[in-house]
Amino acid sequence: TRALLAEAEPQDALGRLNRQIGACARCGICAQATGAVPGEGPADAALMAVGEQPGDREDLARRPFVGPAGQVFDREAQAAGLDRAAVYVTNAVKGFKFAPRGKRRIHQRPDAGEVAHCRWWLDLERQLVRPKLILGMGATAAKALTGSGRDIGRRRGRIEEASDGTPVLLTVHPSYLLRLPDRARAEAETERFRGDLAAAVRIA
Ligand code: URA
Repeated sequence: TRALLAEAEPQDALGRLNRQIGACARCGICAQATGAVPGEGPADAALMAVGEQPGDREDLARRPFVGPAGQVFDREAQAAGLDRAAVYVTNAVKGFKFAPRGKRRIHQRPDAGEVAHCRWWLDLERQLVRPKLILGMGATAAKALTGSGRDIGRRRGRIEEASDGTPVLLTVHPSYLLRLPDRARAEAETERFRGDLAAAVRIA
């Protein structure tokens, strides 16, 4: 950790951190998957966006938010005037936890112990990037960032704090929007999500 934080160039330190994350074997999740998926983005990003964990597509590509949830994020970010290339995009848990079902790999939510264990990496990312604002997407990110597991539905749109005082704007996870069966509800929730992204642009 000391060597990382002493690295002269933040981008170099982040590169080194991400190589360490990519080789992580601190729990069994990444051993079952292709491997840990590091965060992505500029070391001087004013905004850090945090999701839950990589999905099937992210695990194969070893890149965050490139699957269906990532497409929702990209689309809504663009509509909200948020340039993804300027955001540091990462996850609370770096590995894809799944249950094999035939040829498919079914997403499994990481448990509280796994989120706490993997927070080691998220905390280092936060220390290196030092964003002005963190966008916490979904309950797992909210728990990892604020320590509170209270209902995300009641907290979304609000600003809380990470352990070092960095403001954390909470919103729903983009995959939640994909799961809503009712079209009108999905549209309304998507609009609220876009509003949260637009607020993140204004604050960061
Ligand atoms: N969902 C997440 O939380 N993160 C990803 O990277 C992809 C899907």
